[in-house]
Amino acid sequence: MTDATPVTPEPTSETPDQAPEHTGDGQDLAARGSNRSQRPDSDAFKAFITSGWAPRAELDVEPLPAAPYTVARRAALSARFPGARLVVPAGPLKTRSNDTDYRFRPHSAFAHLTGYGTDQEPDAVLVLHPVEPGTGDGGSDHHAVLYVRPLAARDTEEFYADSRYGEFWVGARPSLDDVTTATGVEARHVDELRDALAKDVGPGGVTLLVVAGADEAVEALVEAIRAEAGLDDVEAAQDEQLTEAEWLARAEAAYRRTDAALVEAVSELRLVKDAHEVEQMREAVAATIAGFEEVVRNLPRAVEHRRGERVIETTFDAHARLEGNTVGYETIAAAGEHATTLHWIRNDGVVRTGELVLLDAGVEVDSLYTADVTRTLPVDGEYTEVQRRVYQAVLDAADAAFAVAVPGARFRDVHAAAMEVIAARLEEWGLLPVSAAESLSQDGQQHRRWMVHGTSHHLGLDVHDCAQARRELYLDGVLEPGMVFTIEPGLYFKADDLAVPEEYRGIGVRIEDDVLVTADSNENLSAALPRRPEDVEAWMGRLRG
Ligand code: GLY
Ligand code: MN
Ligand code: MN
Repeated sequence: MTDATPVTPEPTSETPDQAPEHTGDGQDLAARGSNRSQRPDSDAFKAFITSGWAPRAELDVEPLPAAPYTVARRAALSARFPGARLVVPAGPLKTRSNDTDYRFRPHSAFAHLTGYGTDQEPDAVLVLHPVEPGTGDGGSDHHAVLYVRPLAARDTEEFYADSRYGEFWVGARPSLDDVTTATGVEARHVDELRDALAKDVGPGGVTLLVVAGADEAVEALVEAIRAEAGLDDVEAAQDEQLTEAEWLARAEAAYRRTDAALVEAVSELRLVKDAHEVEQMREAVAATIAGFEEVVRNLPRAVEHRRGERVIETTFDAHARLEGNTVGYETIAAAGEHATTLHWIRNDGVVRTGELVLLDAGVEVDSLYTADVTRTLPVDGEYTEVQRRVYQAVLDAADAAFAVAVPGARFRDVHAAAMEVIAARLEEWGLLPVSAAESLSQDGQQHRRWMVHGTSHHLGLDVHDCAQARRELYLDGVLEPGMVFTIEPGLYFKADDLAVPEEYRGIGVRIEDDVLVTADSNENLSAALPRRPEDVEAWMGRLRG
């Protein structure tokens, strides 16, 4: 990686070659990064590097495919917060180590409301400004403005010396016009953000709400503006005699003026996917299935390598990077007993014939939607009798969950249906210390020893999407067409589990599919990836010739 020292201004006139050997030279620690190389800062150099460039080629900017959909998404948010100014940061670049950053991924709420995806746009802030009701974007009560840091001119130091944002270092960034062309949203320089946020904020005026957790600097700015305007997060309790209904109404109104309410709202806004989101999910799933096929072709190589799980991981991850943005979460490539560790992402184990390998992986496409799919495959292409028995129980649990995942059912019913099958099968095998019925009761739950995770989670821009939604809309929520979630039962028998006969020990099976609730039923988006044991075996046989 290229040395990024030009970012920090030279702290002293001494060149690094002349710097004292010992510390204690008064140089600020933050400036020590400049000690590892020399950088030119003569006027002659500056004049030369900022001149002699051909006119800039236009960036090839097209409207984002999501742009026609984001107006309605923002209008839905607007309707929940009349009169409030809503601040949705993309987030900053995040440090990986010292002065190197992770690849940028915008906060999911920002991606959802702007349509931006891969790499765009660090430090940008979407603001929904309250306007006269009905006069805003799409007839809503708000007007959206994107505050961005546009491409710097070539006569600036940023052009050549800023390793985080400069064109020499990260390429040309979009201009304000480019941002508007792409998103359909008015774009302004981020330097205008402070004044724009502060306008009319105060008691009796505009309320300022920020999606917390995305950008500390923006949150601090919002806090500072609130403090200057004499606003607190929540209104002070008042010494009044209120009826319970009045008190609840007031508490609800006060809550609607908190950052938490905004975080909750942007999460709940994604519970039902629009047509474009469903399309993106289909693409993510299709790319993921192709990635699983690549892995199966590479299994013989995995068996030969001392870290065969890494062969599986890197095969899938390379595919994700080639066909999409990246993986939607760290790939779980768990061979043998590792499959009983739910989030096994170290992936440094051997892959042995005769064992199973659990692959839990998803491609995140450029719009940042991700699939989340698991298959548990026999390394040599055929399940043993006991592996098949466990696999079939998990598959039956998944099928039972699919059968109830229809509009009008509750999200929690999906898990309950899977658990009935799991408990019944464990009882049949003589593993439960109580009856299946007792285990399924609230006071029992012994079957969960072998499946401690839930059966489903919403899926979309985040692998665990809509995570801040209220319980009444999530676990207790009613399924609606357009919802996308996983169905992923499993059974995991640890190698040292003395509660099960030896033949089960070290076997871990999960089958995970991505389901779309349709008008009257559901669609298994990942159905093209074989699930039944005989189909898995036939598919593996075909792929491996
Ligand atoms: N891969 C994470 C999950 O299945 O939820
Ligand atoms: Mn999952
Ligand atoms: Mn998964």
